[in-house]
Formats: sequence, C-alpha cells, structure tokens
Amino acid sequence: MDIEFVAASAAVAPRTALARIVFEGEALDGALAQAATGSRFTGGKGQTLDILAPAGTEAARLVLVGAGKRETFDALGAEHAAASAYAAVKTSGLDVLRIETPNGDAALAARAALGVRLASYRFDKYRTKEPAEKKPSIVKTQVATAEADAALAAFPPLAALADAVAFSRDLVSEPANILYPAEFARRVKELEALGLEVEILGEAEMAELGMGSLLGVGQGSVRESQLVVIRWNGADDKTAQPVAFIGKGVCFDTGGISIKPADGMEDMKWDMGGAAAVSGLMHVLAGRKAKVNAVGILGLVENMPDGNAQRPGDVVTSMSGQTIEVINTDAEGRLVLADAVWYCQDRFKPKFMVDLATLTGAIIISLGNDYAGLFSNNDELAGNLLAASGLEGEPLWRMPLPPQYDKQIDSMIADMKNTGGRPGGSITAALFIQRFVNGLPWAHLDIASTAWKKPSSVPTIPDGATGFGVRLLNRMVQEKYEG
Ligand code: BES
Ligand code: MN
Ligand code: ZN
Repeated sequence: MDIEFVAASAAVAPRTALARIVFEGEALDGALAQAATGSRFTGGKGQTLDILAPAGTEAARLVLVGAGKRETFDALGAEHAAASAYAAVKTSGLDVLRIETPNGDAALAARAALGVRLASYRFDKYRTKEPAEKKPSIVKTQVATAEADAALAAFPPLAALADAVAFSRDLVSEPANILYPAEFARRVKELEALGLEVEILGEAEMAELGMGSLLGVGQGSVRESQLVVIRWNGADDKTAQPVAFIGKGVCFDTGGISIKPADGMEDMKWDMGGAAAVSGLMHVLAGRKAKVNAVGILGLVENMPDGNAQRPGDVVTSMSGQTIEVINTDAEGRLVLADAVWYCQDRFKPKFMVDLATLTGAIIISLGNDYAGLFSNNDELAGNLLAASGLEGEPLWRMPLPPQYDKQIDSMIADMKNTGGRPGGSITAALFIQRFVNGLPWAHLDIASTAWKKPSSVPTIPDGATGFGVRLLNRMVQEKYEG
C-alpha cells in the first residue's frame, strides 16, 4: 500500500474513493443529509455509508465514516476510522482511497495512515486461484490534511511499526511445515539488514549451556530446536544496561505425548506468537533507530509425540540447576521459557525482562479474546506496560501472583512440576516462570487470548494473526526507556 499525504485542496483523481470522517450528532450538508436519512447512518463509531457518484467531485464514490463524538476522537479513533474506510472500499474495484481527516492535526493524519497500513495486511501467498475481482483493488491511500508536510515527517516511525507488525503477522500465519525453528531463525537472521545482530544457538550449544528444560520439549521433533539472540544497540552508550524481551516460539504444539484432541489442533501453528511479537519489536526498534539497547530472545522448538519424545513423569534439569518433573508434556511453553529467561538474565543482566507467550488456554477462559494477561513482580514495570497498552489499543489486564499458590507447583521428587492443576491455571504458569527470573524486575504477558483473532473485533486487525504485543512494547520503550 502506497501512502501519500496531500493538501485538502489537491485534485481528486478518477478511480478514487473519497472517505469523509463524520462525527456523531453533527449535521451533514444538503445532499449528504438527504442520503443519510435514507439509512441508519448517524456517525457512530464503525458505521459507514457508501454513496456512488457523489455530486461536485471527480471521485467515483464517497464513503461517510462514523467516528463517534468529536470530543472523544483521538489517535486510535483516527486509525480505526481510516481502517473502516479502507474496509468499506477495499474490493470496490477502485485504485485510490482518499481520506479527509477532520482538522489540521498532523499526528492524527499520520495515525490514519497507520490505520490503513495495518488494516490492509493480508496473508495470501498460498492462494493461487483467487479471482482478481475478489482481491483488494486499492493500491494507494492519500491522507488529505492541511498539515501534509508535518504528517509526512511524523510518518516514518509509524511506517516502521506497520512493517514490523506485518513481519510478526507473517510469522504467525505461516504453517508449521514451512516455519519450523531453523526457518524462523533464518528469517530473523535476515533482519541483520536493518542493523540488528542475530546469533543462533543450536541443540549442541544449548546442551553445553545445560538447557535440559527447553531441549526436552524439542526432543521428539525431527526439527532442531533453536535459541535466537537478537540485539539492538541504539543507545548513545553502547554499554548501557539493556531492556530484554523473551518469546515462546513453539512452532507447532501437538501437546507431545500428552497429545491434544484433533479438533482445533491446527491453531497450534500460532503457538510461536510470543517469539513473533519479540521479533516484530526488534524489527521496529531497528526500523526507527530507537535510542535504546535491547535484547530479544526466542526459544524455538516443535512439540511432537515420538519414540524419542519426553514422557509424562520425566525429570529434566534446567540451566538454572533447578529440576522439573514434567507432569504434562503439553505444558511445554513454560519449560521453554524457563531456560530462555534464565539465559537472558544470566548473560545480559538487563534492567527488566518481559516475556510473551501463548501460554495457557485458561487465560482465554479468564479474559476472553480481547485482553492479554499481565503478570509482574514489579509495579513500575506493570504500570508502564498498562499505560502503553492503552495508548496502542492492545488491552492488558493485570493478574495476581499470589505466593500461596506457588506450592501448587511443588513436586514430590524434583524442585517443581510443570503443572499446578486446573485452578488458576494461568497464574500457576506465571508462578512457574517467576522461579527463573532470579529476582529481576519482570513481566509476563500471556497472549494465548490475543495472538490470533477470528473474527476480529478491531478494524486495524484483519482476521487471523494480530501481531499483538509489538505495538505496546514499542510504545513502552519509546515513552520510558529511550534517550
Ligand atoms: N499452547 C498452549 C496454550 C494455548 C491454548 C494457546 C489455546 C492458544 C490457544 C499451551 O502449551 C498448553 O497446551 N497449555 C495447557 C497447559 C496445561 C496442560 C497445564 C493448557 O492451557 O491446556
Ligand atoms: Mn501445550
Ligand atoms: Zn503451547
């Protein structure tokens, strides 16, 4: 999608769909008012009204896009209105979408452009027979604003964000026969072109480090497990303590010997959504040359049943030295994170660690499909994440880490076991990871509820992979840890 910022007075080319943002309860002029009376369009959020061959313009159609009340219109409102405008005309057959933004605010115009970039994401590389008339036709979006130069100047970091979200969504959308740990690592290695440093550790190196917990998960797979270390040193002081992000990257989760039921198992291709979010975050930090030192760690494995797979009841020794009784081989994400998190703090001594993981079905039961669970041992970090979450429209809900629940994961024969039973399933999973953070400020985002949306409830997120986490972490870094 090409993006341009143009003056409000710029001539409208033929084959253009014009979108006008309309606030709830505000009068429309003449013919438009008459058109609106023939519909239920009131300017409410998400409403659109399509008018063909409108009088007084070259445009082939005009779409009125409701944006709710003017007083509450903000940057996210601009994104959503622009995304709704795109959705209304994307398969109209027209080439250009021109969005008229309501006032001279350059920041809002830039965010409208971001909204279209995010909404026009599509994963269609495996569709070889889709008829042309079913494909989106809009190839260019013009955002019309009185502040076109300022909007253009504000856009590059948002374009970098859109690129990074698309990168993350692509990883999540890929099927597991294509995207296995080594292929995931290879795609991340290509990000060195952006200025990132990428190291890839294979099974021999991880065995050397004593990562028995992560390696046990991948033991039944013919695909080699990988640990990827991504570094961005953008701070003026290249030796300044980094911030760190760790992602669960289970490229496919069959459950292992504790195998999952067939129904819906295909969803487990997106059990690497945490690693994809961390990859996307590093992508945008490099893309916009963020003034921060950051580390991203990806624990990449495939969880398969096999003659060599680990068994329920096996005991593994993690890199921390702590032993784990594997009660259920389907509680594998925490086993991967145990070693990835320990490695991260041991090697990088970061300011804080945030891990992201599609960790538990229980978080979907707790929070539904719009909120991810936030668990943290540090109120300042949790507050920073919540603030960024609100600004970027990636909702988080803080969950507790009650010390008295921790004994649910004590084991009879090892230091701990990998499941704590059904009560508080997301909480005991988080408490398990907490045993590997070595007292550092840490937060865990359980994104099993938000990594994939079908149907999506947000116009900037097409059905499928969301890229959840990239936006909020980028915003938190930008607001709190740069410069
Ligand atoms: N990857 C799953 C969690 C998940 C479920 C993600 C649904 C997305 C959608 C995770 O590895 C898992 O299997 N968790 C188990 C834990 C249980 C065995 C303690 C679960 O949630 O059932
Ligand atoms: Mn599992
Ligand atoms: Zn899993």
